[in-house]
Amino acid sequence: MTDRPVEGLRPLKVCVVGASGKLGRYMVKHALARGYEVVGVCRPQSVDKLADFADKITVVPGATNNPSVIARAVAGCDGVLTVLVPWGVHGYATGTAQAVLDHAAPDARLVFSCGWHISRDGTDVYTRRLRVFIAVVGSLARWLRLVNIDDQVEACRCVFASHRRWTVVRGSDLEEGDSQGLPVWSRHVGDAVLASNRTRRVDFALFMVEALTDDSLVREAPAIVGCRTPSALAHTAIHP
Ligand SMILES: NC(=O)c1ccc[n+]([C@@H]2O[C@H](COP(=O)([O-])OP(=O)(O)OC[C@H]3O[C@@H](n4cnc5c(N)ncnc54)[C@H](OP(=O)(O)O)[C@@H]3O)[C@@H](O)[C@H]2O)c1
Repeated sequence: MTDRPVEGLRPLKVCVVGASGKLGRYMVKHALARGYEVVGVCRPQSVDKLADFADKITVVPGATNNPSVIARAVAGCDGVLTVLVPWGVHGYATGTAQAVLDHAAPDARLVFSCGWHISRDGTDVYTRRLRVFIAVVGSLARWLRLVNIDDQVEACRCVFASHRRWTVVRGSDLEEGDSQGLPVWSRHVGDAVLASNRTRRVDFALFMVEALTDDSLVREAPAIVGCRTPSALAHTAIHP
């Protein structure tokens, strides 16, 4: 973020798009812990899920793919953390990503969440289990008109093609539990360090928030894994 506030003058202002979900609420917590000013966007029916933060953040109720909602929420923000979810069959994820790309400040750091199934350059190597899971669950969910994974793929394609200061964080399988620390990452699924395929959701959120101030992650699509998982520990032992 150029225009980054000088420490002591004003805190970073960040917007969490999809703030009421599990990942979103963890990101709000991490951002508040850093003293950031936080704006959260969530569906009107989910505002109550942010009750714990009611007096600490500004909530903008509305659909995350609504450009006017996003324009209002991201105004003046130094960074935007977006939970990309492929709900429904009407381009919700694509609309959300596009609204953020269109309306965030030109220098803002834009950090998006997705899963390992997203590939930036097509050279990720997936296990048969993951390929079958995506094919079967993806088709079933689309048939039921609940979720369209292709929409999240398209949303990320829009982000990858943009000249904004983006990072797309690709999460492994997730679990709940106390923080273990900042996840480790690699450019390609299939790399040995990622083999454990497990990250605490609280640490996924930590990585997203840390990415806001880590310029080495600009225009990267890190695939992450928990730093205490066997594959991460084995990697650290070999590459201290
Ligand atoms: N779950 C996993 O195992 C996993 C693995 C790897 C990566 N990821 C990635 O992690 C991110 C968060 O996923 P999560 O599974 O942990 O979920 P989550 O944080 O609970 O977020 C779900 C989001 O979807 C919204 N949502 C739910 N139903 C909706 C609907 N019908 N229409 C529009 N929005 C709706 C929720 O908003 P409300 O609060 O309004 O319901 C919330 O913002 C995603 O980017 C996902 O791709 C997840």
